[in-house]
Amino acid sequence: MLEHPTLSQFVLDQEAKAGGSGQFTDILLDIGVVGKAISYEMNRAGISDILGEAGVENASGDVVQKLDVRSNEMFIKYLSKTEHFCALASEEEEGIVALESGKNSDYVIAFDPLDGSSNIDYNVSVGTIFSIHKRLSKPGRPGTIKDFLQPGKDQVAAGYIIYGSSTMLVYSTGQGVHGFTLDQGIGEWMLSHPNITIPKACDIYSANEAYTRTWDEVSQRFLEEFKHGNDKATSRHIGSLVADLHRNMLKGGLYFRPYDDHKKKSAKLRLNYELKPLAYIINQAGGYATTGLDNILEIIPEDLHQKLPMIAGNAYIVQEYETIFKASNS
Ligand code: AHG
Ligand code: MN
Ligand code: MN
Repeated sequence: MLEHPTLSQFVLDQEAKAGGSGQFTDILLDIGVVGKAISYEMNRAGISDILGEAGVENASGDVVQKLDVRSNEMFIKYLSKTEHFCALASEEEEGIVALESGKNSDYVIAFDPLDGSSNIDYNVSVGTIFSIHKRLSKPGRPGTIKDFLQPGKDQVAAGYIIYGSSTMLVYSTGQGVHGFTLDQGIGEWMLSHPNITIPKACDIYSANEAYTRTWDEVSQRFLEEFKHGNDKATSRHIGSLVADLHRNMLKGGLYFRPYDDHKKKSAKLRLNYELKPLAYIINQAGGYATTGLDNILEIIPEDLHQKLPMIAGNAYIVQEYETIFKASNS
């Protein structure tokens, strides 16, 4: 049973090789603790009256589920106590949570506590996404909003937890992507997927095709050509971003969520909580993520809850889309 390294063993070892202080090990273990607590509550959701809607909307105008609220509370409560962050930002909170307790810490964390809300009640995979930056503000005080308005390429760590047929934590600190499976029996994250890289073949696409009618012509045509230009093309769409990207990263594939309207103004996914961390992971696994116009990792967020499109997966196919999309917009 113990033939795989645990998360703490692995991260400590990686940090030692990189000459770090050990602080990152603590941070990842903190996230791992919250992930275990969410996983536990999720598994009991049907019998503990925490399924269904909470009856409110969040900063992005989404209907909030009870488990969104619970997961958000667990993250904020637990991370506030650790002194490892000088500020937090959550998809479910209007503004940042500045932390006096972590005023001497160098780090801020942004998170989507529960991704894939609409799938929660139906036993479909959902996730948690996190993005960590070094603060720009001066230490000795809580962090500020400017600590969060940094481009994805400056993240010092990012990752996600997927609550699926098993629960996995996947992260990168810029030294590859590593996946850990939660051993529910002993409550430990065990290294199961070291050095994840996207396989070469890109036969799968993940898109909410019901929206095709709302897409710009270039995006519509690109997906049609993807489908018809490859005999092996097939589709898998879960509707939980974490699950769709996780699948595509392990199997090779294209995640496709362009602008939701012909005028290329409206988008669903959030730059700080979803796009930046997932683009970082995809990039570290050898892939690429774009809005069509920009490399997601290069974008400086304009505000906390900014929304943009994401086309992500095998680098060559995503770059091909970006070239065509950019040309049509020049
Ligand atoms: P969240 O549950 O955090 O609000 O995110 C939902 C996101 C993403 O997970 C998913 O892929 C997408 O919204 C689904 O949106 P549509 O139902 O509009 O396709
Ligand atoms: Mn989400
Ligand atoms: Mn969410």
